[in-house]
Amino acid sequence: MSTDYPSVGVASGLPRHSFPLRVLHWLIAVLLAFSLIGGFTLGTLGHERIVELVGTDIANIAYMAHKTLGITILGLMVLRLVVRLLQGTPPYAVELSGFQRFMSRLVHFLLYVMVIAIPIVGSLATAAAGFPVNFFTWELPAMIAENPALAEQLFQAHMILGLCIIAVLVLHIGAGLRHKRRGDWVMHRISLGR
Ligand code: HEM
Repeated sequence: MSTDYPSVGVASGLPRHSFPLRVLHWLIAVLLAFSLIGGFTLGTLGHERIVELVGTDIANIAYMAHKTLGITILGLMVLRLVVRLLQGTPPYAVELSGFQRFMSRLVHFLLYVMVIAIPIVGSLATAAAGFPVNFFTWELPAMIAENPALAEQLFQAHMILGLCIIAVLVLHIGAGLRHKRRGDWVMHRISLGR
């Protein structure tokens, strides 16, 4: 392990994200994992096969759960963006190369944009297909009129965004694990522990 980095000890006293932002990070990470797994399961099997497998009631609950999860993530992402803009980001206390800084900014920017975009596109696709946009048992007002051709394109965009998010998450998680292995303080900036 490199010794060029400050120790991640309890009393390291190094700057890190605020506690609310760290909680939001891990909460969104868990919810996003569920919504990606659930979304790809729904998209791959398709409505008819799901109804065949589990019946109409459970199928409806599965769609409602996916939509509710997505709208919850959208709300939490907006909150997170506001907190981040108000608080700014703590300075890096370790030497990161120009390339590392560029990649980390790019990856974080792409994640913010795509994770905010995917529930919006999913909601528009659902409304255009003439299906209800549910948040738990509430039906939210449709933002656009029914349009099957547009719905097809929007669902395509929803799926491509899902694949892009997974690709960017691979880079994000890979970088996080690398910092963890090096024992530098970067993971400590965002971890929930002390
Ligand atoms: C962070 C939020 C979300 C993520 C990560 C996500 C991800 C996904 C993914 C990856 C798919 C599979 C696409 C495919 O294979 O065709 C999917 C399907 C679907 N999503 Fe989302 N989604 C989110 C939010 C939403 C929202 C808010 C709605 C609607 C209100 C929604 C409605 C749907 C529907 C109806 C399907 C099934 C599409 C089909 O059967 O072709 N999603 N989602």
